[in-house]
Amino acid sequence: MTQEKEWFSEWFNSPYYHILYKSRDAREAEYFLRNLVRRLHFSKHQQLIDLACGKGRHSIFLNKLGFEVTGIDLAKDSIAFAKTAENERLHFEIQDLRNLPYHEQFDVALNLFTSFGYFDCDDTNQLVMRQIYQILKQDGLVVIDFMNVDKVLSNLDLHTEKEVDGIVFHITKEVKNGLIIKQIRFTDAGQTYHFKEEVQILHLKDFERLFSLTGFDVEFVYGNYKLEPFNVDSSDRLIVVGKKHV
Ligand SMILES: C[S@@+](CC[C@H](N)C(=O)[O-])C[C@H]1O[C@@H](n2cnc3c(N)ncnc32)[C@H](O)[C@@H]1O
Repeated sequence: MTQEKEWFSEWFNSPYYHILYKSRDAREAEYFLRNLVRRLHFSKHQQLIDLACGKGRHSIFLNKLGFEVTGIDLAKDSIAFAKTAENERLHFEIQDLRNLPYHEQFDVALNLFTSFGYFDCDDTNQLVMRQIYQILKQDGLVVIDFMNVDKVLSNLDLHTEKEVDGIVFHITKEVKNGLIIKQIRFTDAGQTYHFKEEVQILHLKDFERLFSLTGFDVEFVYGNYKLEPFNVDSSDRLIVVGKKHV
């Protein structure tokens, strides 16, 4: 299979992405969101948007908790799947983070499980942050749940093999030009596949800079789904919460 120019529209729309990451499931989403909703005092009249929602595991649970939620993603197959759960307070749309067709209508924008940093330049990071800013109401919150790159880099396995659902994924990782590049190769039903993931190495200071350039104040920084404080050496996640100011 040949690589598309934009790797993320190929890989994330493939069923194999969902097989490889099947442990990132509804249970994990529910645990994180129960903590987040409580800690940030979300209220039921607020409008939430789940940016890069995938198949909607976070959106669907937030809706079950009583929130009105819109989930958007570029991956059409993921959105088609998510749409089977739609109701009058839960909607999914195919949209691109770089061009969001909303204006000051959401109270909370969520960007969860490393759904940022796929682009190869900081201008696009800034563009996405500006899009998030313009879809939020004044005092709206943005929550970005990214990997803790410092921990990832200090534990980087250059070659791994992972068997899931009978498929052996051969994964190599390298660090190049400010990116963590993962090559994923496997064979299924006699066909050989090759996908890649490229995620920018973004530290807390990068999010602080992006937030400040856009007009967000950093309100909280957490280090895992239990919402414990961020520790650069030991935290699994980097979860940054910003508030829109004018
Ligand atoms: C790591 S997955 C996370 C999905 C979901 N948040 C979850 O936790 O299950 C990243 C998601 O970002 C989406 N994505 C990548 N680039 C995008 C873009 N430019 N606009 C919208 N979604 C995008 C992918 O299609 C994919 O579903």
